[in-house]
Amino acid sequence: MSNLVAVVMAAGKGTRMKSKLPKVMHLLAGKTLIEHVLDTVTQVGIERPLVIVGHGREVIEASVCGRAETVVQTEQLGTGHAIMQVLPYLEGVQTVLVLSGDQPLLKPETLHALIELHETQGVSATVLTAYMDQPFGYGRIIKNGDQLVKIVEEKDATLDERQINEINTGTYCFKGSALKDALTKITLQNAQGEYYLTEVFDVFLRHGEKMSTYCTADSQEALGINSRSQLADAEAIFRERILEHWMNEGVTLVDPSSTFIDAEVELTQDVTILPFTRLMGKTRIEEDAVIGPQTSLENCTVGCGSEVTYTVAKDAVIGERCHVGPFAYLRPGTKLEAEVKVGDFVEIKNSWIETGAKVPHLSYIGDAHIGKSANIGAGTITCNYDGVKKSLTTIGDYAFIGSNTNLVAPVEVGEHAVTGAGSTITKNVPAEALAVERSQQVIKEHWYRKKMK
Ligand code: UD1
Ligand code: CA
Repeated sequence: MSNLVAVVMAAGKGTRMKSKLPKVMHLLAGKTLIEHVLDTVTQVGIERPLVIVGHGREVIEASVCGRAETVVQTEQLGTGHAIMQVLPYLEGVQTVLVLSGDQPLLKPETLHALIELHETQGVSATVLTAYMDQPFGYGRIIKNGDQLVKIVEEKDATLDERQINEINTGTYCFKGSALKDALTKITLQNAQGEYYLTEVFDVFLRHGEKMSTYCTADSQEALGINSRSQLADAEAIFRERILEHWMNEGVTLVDPSSTFIDAEVELTQDVTILPFTRLMGKTRIEEDAVIGPQTSLENCTVGCGSEVTYTVAKDAVIGERCHVGPFAYLRPGTKLEAEVKVGDFVEIKNSWIETGAKVPHLSYIGDAHIGKSANIGAGTITCNYDGVKKSLTTIGDYAFIGSNTNLVAPVEVGEHAVTGAGSTITKNVPAEALAVERSQQVIKEHWYRKKMK
């Protein structure tokens, strides 16, 4: 595969998506369509593919930079016109692999087989095809016996041609020189007034060039995303692939039908995922952890043996053997060391909670450092924001924060220090001291009877 260039067409607007986002930037299992295609290309060992960009090029360029080279198609005059833009890059190239940025389910093994067949047969072009029960909208493969004759777009097809179930997936291999030559001969004579890439097959036929097809057994791979409905179809198929993969790797999914796992999530053997759970982004879960039910984690790490239930967390690190939830909310910058407990109705943001510390109920902990085995009483609030700036709260190892304490930051509570329940702490508390900040309790005897007189 040394003399091969891969070209991904991604300049179209994707009108049928009805979106301000270019079509290939829509997400499938947490990754853009174009990233899925580039991943497949990378997996067959092809480096630095060319991506043709046009509509919404800035966003696409920003997302693919570093792994692909972009070529601009200023006006989107069709797939044939798109490939014309890369002609200067095809000088002396033997094989040109053309892919569509809107076909994210294509598997690397299929791509590999297509390239191999194309190169061993020594033909001018090989089309990846599929049989579809509902071929509506796809280009149809017209054959004479086994021999490819042409590809006809839905809008140009006769009624008879529309009955054909073998479709063009939009993925092809071309002999570089033949492609270059044929592209100079295509026209705008079709229903859409575009330069169709598929018209090069008409040119090949006229010139007596050899053409071939390779049909994938899995028609799902051919799904092209043109609408939101096709995007949802692809999401369902891809999700099933991901869930199957993790079950094969030794993960228990108690209810796959209510489990959503993004493409880049990493799980480990003996992880258990309970129903209604969504794992997003670059989340990683270690062995024996139990996640869910009803938990949503985005870009989080969960250590071995931890339990996270009814929780929402984003950009958080949960150590080993922690208990989080039910009803916890961990925001970016939360770091829990081992054996930390975060209980019900607790929100934590940008805070480091050391080993064995507990925040069991009804607290807000923001911009704080909580030492080892410290206990944070119910209803404790770090008052980290004075309306202008955020300040830090530091709580020493083994400190005991009484229930309903307000910690007005910046403030420090030393090791083994104690705060009385209901105190508003505005001054630092030395190690091992008790700080109480509340008025003395007053008892008025027989108050009820006096009041009644
Ligand atoms: C195309 C094929 C059709 C095939 C189908 C498979 C043609 C003429 N038709 O149709 O035979 O069955 O894909 O999904 O090729 N693009 C550009 N520049 C353009 C136009 C399109 O880069 O000027 C890109 C799009 O961004 C997209 C890809 O090419 O990623 C395919 O274009 P699209 O308009 O979706 O083609 P289809 O109508 O689906
Ligand atoms: Ca398409």
